[in-house]
Order: sequence, then structure tokens, then C-alpha cells
Amino acid sequence: TLQRTFIMVKPDGVKRGLIGEIVKRFEQKGFQLLKAELMVIEKEKAELHYMEHKEKPFFGELVDFITSGPVFAMVWEGENIIQVSRLMIGSTSPESAAPGTIRGDFANSKQENIVHGSDSIVSAEREIANLFEPLLTRFSNQNL
Ligand code: CMP
Repeated sequence: TLQRTFIMVKPDGVKRGLIGEIVKRFEQKGFQLLKAELMVIEKEKAELHYMEHKEKPFFGELVDFITSGPVFAMVWEGENIIQVSRLMIGSTSPESAAPGTIRGDFANSKQENIVHGSDSIVSAEREIANLFEPLLTRFSNQNL
């Protein structure tokens, strides 16, 4: 199935100069970049983005981290991209992220793990709307 997903290079990935590396991996896989913007996420939007973690002990820290500097937010399209992008990104924990995955190759922290990818169609739609919808409205472009 052709799907769209939300992929974001987190502040640590941007600071480490990994935007190009991450874009390259998704391009090489044959996926299509539909939209991208370097942005600093507002606190309220960060809380919405991570709402499924709001009861977790690390929630406050996570919101502070994701708003600590610019992120590179993207919308990508491709066959089964939600599942495939999660495989390309790798596990959250540095000790279980396989070599060859983005986190396996570049991340050493559970929180500062370089990249985010939506985990379902519903999350992808919610995350894209949360971070890109004001722009879409501004440009009156329904097709991204
Ligand atoms: P991600 O999978 O994009 O979405 C949830 C994020 O919460 C995860 O990346 C990490 O950045 C963060 N996270 C998950 N577990 C922990 C943890 N134990 N401590 C701090 N941050 C975490």
C-alpha cells in the first residue's frame, strides 16, 4: 500500500550534521520526499506530538529535548513506508538498535536518538497535521 509518514531529524541529529545522511537513506530506498522544513517546535505542539507518552516519567525531559533546537520535519511517501521506515530507523534503545539502521549507526542514547518516524497510519496523519497543517492552510495546498 502507498502510504505517507512523518519523519523528523531531532535536535541532536541536526546539531550533529546528519540531515543529509538521513535524507539520503530514504531517497536511496526509493521513497519520495513530499515536504520538509527546518523548524523549532512550540511546546504545545511538542506535547501533542508526544501525547501517547504524557504519563511517562521522561515526558517533561522529552518535550524539553525536542524543543531545544531546530528539527528537520519531513513528509515521505512510499510503499508500506510506515513499517519500512521504522525498520530503517531501528530500535529506541542503543543496545538493541541493529547496525545498519540509523539509530544503530549513529545513536548512543535512548532520548537523543537522532530521528523519529510515525508508528501507524493514524499517528502519521496526526503528526503531519500537528506540525504542517498551519503551513498547508497558509499556502492553500491540499496535496502537500
Ligand atoms: P521516539 O520513538 O521517536 O518517540 C518517543 C521518544 O521518547 C523516543 O523516541 C525517545 O526519544 C524518548 N524516550 C523513549 N524512552 C525513553 C527513556 N527511557 N528516557 C528518555 N527518553 C525516552
